Amino acid sequence: MELHPIKGLAGTVTVPGDKSISHRGVMLGAIAEGKTELSGFLDGADCRSTISCFRSMGVDIRQEGDRVTILGRGLHGLQKPSEVLDVGNSGTTMRLISGILSGCAFTSVLDGDDSIRQRPMKRIIEPLSQMGADIRSLHGNGCAPLSVTGGSLHPIHYVSPVASAQVKSAVLLAGLYCDGVTSVTEPSLSRNHTELMLRGFGAEVVCEGATASVTGLPRLYGQKITVPGDISSAAYFIAAAALVPHAQLRINNINCNPTRAGILRVCRLMGADIAYENPRSVSGEDVCDLVVSSSVLHGTTIDGSLIPSLIDEIPVIAVMAAYADGVTTIRDAQELRVKESDRIFTVVSNLQAMGVQAEATEDGMIIRGGRQVHGAPICTYGDHRIAMAFAVASLCADGPTTLDAPGCVAISYPSFFDTLQKISLRS
Ligand code: S3P
Repeated sequence: MELHPIKGLAGTVTVPGDKSISHRGVMLGAIAEGKTELSGFLDGADCRSTISCFRSMGVDIRQEGDRVTILGRGLHGLQKPSEVLDVGNSGTTMRLISGILSGCAFTSVLDGDDSIRQRPMKRIIEPLSQMGADIRSLHGNGCAPLSVTGGSLHPIHYVSPVASAQVKSAVLLAGLYCDGVTSVTEPSLSRNHTELMLRGFGAEVVCEGATASVTGLPRLYGQKITVPGDISSAAYFIAAAALVPHAQLRINNINCNPTRAGILRVCRLMGADIAYENPRSVSGEDVCDLVVSSSVLHGTTIDGSLIPSLIDEIPVIAVMAAYADGVTTIRDAQELRVKESDRIFTVVSNLQAMGVQAEATEDGMIIRGGRQVHGAPICTYGDHRIAMAFAVASLCADGPTTLDAPGCVAISYPSFFDTLQKISLRS
């Protein structure tokens, strides 16, 4: 795909539903009693993988676009799947389902694509094994495929070495199957959608700082959930409107839960012009509308407890940094090494291809911005967030940019390029 620089951006963007919340809605709906109805569901490849895994376990799930109805089977109602559960590219599906399967008295096998087979699963194997599940990495390398034999679990207090919502959620979901209270303490607080949604379904969840606890064996009841727009998808348009001259975009219905909205704090630090409108609560999540305008950006430092709240947005933040005056330093983000691609390498090497002074460090990157960015061939490595971040980088480059595998945006944002096209001003 060839992308050309543009003159401006104008209009209103409505981004697809939040990926994390869409996954969780299907999962909790499947193990609740009664009917769960999701609206605003993200109809992307990752969330479809979650639906298909639960269908394989006997759950009746109907999907029409962004509307999904799930007939829950109760905590102990899932059936042993007759085939391998294929999570595709979705780490969230694999890690969260492992928590649920740990409580189910059958053996199942989880597998996915080449990227998922390289991502670390020891981080969930360890706590779920401590709780009593039998989980094996079938190739003995700590990665998928995994076999999970669940059964009688006991509660633990897990002190996680990583701030990861997927690890925390796997343990809390397994905790639903334990008699007693299961807790997870993280080095710093990661996204808390599982905790919020579990409460909405009727579980007792207590959160204190970076510790979350759930009381096991609850009765979960089907819910009507409105999934808000995904801030991780909005991030591309927030960045685009800030760095393109002659730009003003309204981005409606964005989930601005503070455990997810780190990019908004970084935008403020970098000088982006963002107005927040209509703050409200939707299905237990904070939501607002944003108006973002062309801005003079400057470099900043991003590290510490801010990192988990913007981990998926770092590729596009790095692109903003390339267009910002001064130096941007990103630290404490070693988790980027184990995402859909090694995002420290894939971001830095693509920025360098565009002529940006960018340097990889072990746990982040240093970007010296403010010089002309050149159009260049970009290698997405099949990573949706790399494709979208560098599509944004192309908008103010000095020539055409090519993306080698743009189709990967279907993982989280199938209509991304159509939307970008509609709001772009070319003359
Ligand atoms: C997610 C958690 C994050 C994030 C991923 C979605 C979730 O992963 O990067 O895209 O829905 O729980 P980690 O838990 O590995 O940080």
